[in-house]
Amino acid sequence: MLSKTLLSTAAAAALATAGPGTGSGAETGAETGAADAGESAQALPPEATVHPERWPEVAFPVVLTAQDEAEVQDLLARMTLEQKVGQIIQADIASVTPAEVREYRLGSVLNGGNSGPGGNDLAPPQDWLALADAFHEASMDVPAGEPAIPIVWGTDAVHGHSNIVGATIFPHNIGLGAARDPELIERIGRVTAVEIRVTGQEWTFAPTVAVPQDFRWGRAYEGYSSDPALVAAYVGSMIRGLQGPPSTARILAGPHVAASTKHYLADGATTDGKDQGDAAISELELRLVHGAPYIPAIENGVATVMTSFSSWNGVKLSAHRGLVTDVLKGRMNFGGLVVTDWNAHGQVAGCTNASCPKAVAAGIDMFMAPDSWRSLYRSTLAQVRDGTIPMERLDDAVARVLRVKQRLGLFEMGKPSQRPLSGQYELLGAADHRAVAREAVRKSLVMLKNTGVLPLKPDARILVAGDAADDIARQSGGWTLSWQGTGLDNSLFPGATSIWDGIESAVTSAGGHAELSVEGDYGQRPDAAIVVFGETPYAEFQGDIASLQLRPELRRPIETMRKLRAQGIPVVAVMVTGRPLYVNEALNAADAFVTAWLPGSEGGGVADVLFAGEDGAPRHDFRGLLPAAWPATARHGGPTLFPFGYGLRYADGPRPWAPLAEDSGVTDDGGNGGVFFERGVPASAWSLTVTRADGGDSLRVTTVPAEALSGRVRIAATDHEVQEGARSFTIAADPAGTAIELGTFDPIDLTRQTNGDVLLLATVRLDAPLAQPLDMAVRCEGQECGTPVAIDAFSALPTGEWRTLGVPLKCFRAAGADMAGISAPFRLVTDGAARFSLARVALGSLSEADVVAGCSTD
Ligand code: BGC
Ligand code: BGC
Repeated sequence: MLSKTLLSTAAAAALATAGPGTGSGAETGAETGAADAGESAQALPPEATVHPERWPEVAFPVVLTAQDEAEVQDLLARMTLEQKVGQIIQADIASVTPAEVREYRLGSVLNGGNSGPGGNDLAPPQDWLALADAFHEASMDVPAGEPAIPIVWGTDAVHGHSNIVGATIFPHNIGLGAARDPELIERIGRVTAVEIRVTGQEWTFAPTVAVPQDFRWGRAYEGYSSDPALVAAYVGSMIRGLQGPPSTARILAGPHVAASTKHYLADGATTDGKDQGDAAISELELRLVHGAPYIPAIENGVATVMTSFSSWNGVKLSAHRGLVTDVLKGRMNFGGLVVTDWNAHGQVAGCTNASCPKAVAAGIDMFMAPDSWRSLYRSTLAQVRDGTIPMERLDDAVARVLRVKQRLGLFEMGKPSQRPLSGQYELLGAADHRAVAREAVRKSLVMLKNTGVLPLKPDARILVAGDAADDIARQSGGWTLSWQGTGLDNSLFPGATSIWDGIESAVTSAGGHAELSVEGDYGQRPDAAIVVFGETPYAEFQGDIASLQLRPELRRPIETMRKLRAQGIPVVAVMVTGRPLYVNEALNAADAFVTAWLPGSEGGGVADVLFAGEDGAPRHDFRGLLPAAWPATARHGGPTLFPFGYGLRYADGPRPWAPLAEDSGVTDDGGNGGVFFERGVPASAWSLTVTRADGGDSLRVTTVPAEALSGRVRIAATDHEVQEGARSFTIAADPAGTAIELGTFDPIDLTRQTNGDVLLLATVRLDAPLAQPLDMAVRCEGQECGTPVAIDAFSALPTGEWRTLGVPLKCFRAAGADMAGISAPFRLVTDGAARFSLARVALGSLSEADVVAGCSTD
């Protein structure tokens, strides 16, 4: 729930004077506005009913001339119904071809986090531009008599043009929130827009203007701050940087793109920080906290708004007419288009991915229907024909799409490769762009502790340790090259600088000596050590955590800090993280502690501030201030260690340190529930069982070696990474079948993961060629559900070698499983003889798999 200390003074004062009983319940009774007129059949509960008249009136700037509007109306009058329906549908480039864009007259494409030209999300920039041309040309190729409507391509350039190899990667928004510098934000927007234009896209799904209130949320780092005033102070700058100042000039005529604010509304307010969850808050809090950033967004003419996957008091935003039509478009005068999120319409009560007239009725203007666009197109067309979707609403949606296209200048700018900046690949990661990112890194660092070791002398012996020291993907976080940002090595970041690279260059250029050792070993005793540690990359829902702490396997560098300090070596801890976490052990173990957030490609900004110049004085002072309170325990809502706005300066001088209690205050281990089996043992609450596939006999494996099914299956320990880090299975053939299963008593809901590209990952070794193919299945609520899926990729694995096999969760859904209540996400079934070993089973993304099983995913 909201803590008032997190609020700006104005918002807090308003909430305070409003007094008790200002919850949504107390707000009902006034006229409900036209909010539910379109959906009066199923009136909203009072707590999900808005009062538009209580929301601020905002002026959307004039961005189109009367002539532009006349052209939009003229187009609308000449379009066919099919064309109109096509315009409100956006498909993912992984699931649509230019030929299909031509055939269906689709209005837009996007590249999701894992999508890229030719199925390669690491494709070179030339391929992106060529594909942009291909889509554009397809959209312009219409039969005689039909007006040609150019397509618009949206991309998640959320911290720089972050899907493109070689682009400048800026710190994620949480770090920018620490920098407290709106002018810098505008420059970041400008650089990002320029780099997007190089590869031909015209629209970014940024900035995220979430106001995260619970940092267990795996997307908290996409928001600038927990403070609405700080978020609101940035929004206008970012939108001006991306789009240019609001005017009737064509956006694409300048070095600009269309922006989007997301995710409307209250994505940062969900209960327990659950991604795509429910924001159970009053209308007052909804407006003052989460609505605040939309005021500057609209004042600055943001071209698009993306609705949230989440709901407000039980009603999904993608179908909340009161909030979308009456508040955003009505009261707040938003003049752009509203797009839904990735198949979010399918989560609306009464809708599926393939059909959702309710969302159109609520006021959305474009469906993000990545892989569902075909069936959605057909159903939407039919619904307009039979009157379920009124023609006026469709026309309004299409007009809004056309206005954005007109404003961009798409009708006159020609194909992407002909536009200014296109194909100037030297601008991707250009030196002056990287300089802006490096400045952002310097300004975002927050110093939480310094008993005197900082600034470091560069002409010294510096040891750099910790598993995050030399890992650019790790310091960049999610939404970097791939969706979750995982599985990328430094070679994929040409021109970028890891934190280690920056330190090494600062030290060697000053005549000192730098040494890198992850474990903190050294040849010659160092004068000081820098230990870089923290979170590994994550994005949507995969980053949700149960409590505010680092996963156990990420805490090893804290041991390294202790070890070095015990040897009398001063230690500087640098933490890479998307959120404030309980890390009292590290704060105690180090002599200085700096939070670097997720700095991105210019890790050199860290050394800029840690090291003094030749005269011994700091070259740059710390100026970052906490964008959210830092917790004293791992419990959300527990005591605060450092308040919002805290941050030390060199000018403050060394500060004494009173050791902190090392008590996380929680009993969980900080995991995210996505790991079912690790190092050969089930995660807590999970069990490994061997059963006859047709029921009957079963053994829960608790110790090894063990025998199951009357000796037909033998289970033993085998090594993987660590001694006995896996289990081997020797199975004799039997027509009754054998199933190896990881199950739990408390079924889990995997619908979000299935909608995203999440895979079931099994780290396996085939110990002998398989006599017969293996099947995989899931179990729903105690029963097998769906048909088993044949995993040919399993039999194709080389024998004697470990591989991570990925099976898309969509395979199981396509085979009939209800992914909402899974009691066993992993179930291997065979009636043949088999010998294999298993080390780990977890949910993960494409990039973590060595081999991906093919299956039908429709
Ligand atoms: C995310 C959005 C993103 C979209 C397209 C969604 O799952 O919630 O923030 O813009 O995917 O990648
Ligand atoms: C994300 C996309 C991502 C996709 C993977 C979605 O939930 O928003 O950006 O590419 O999952 O399939």
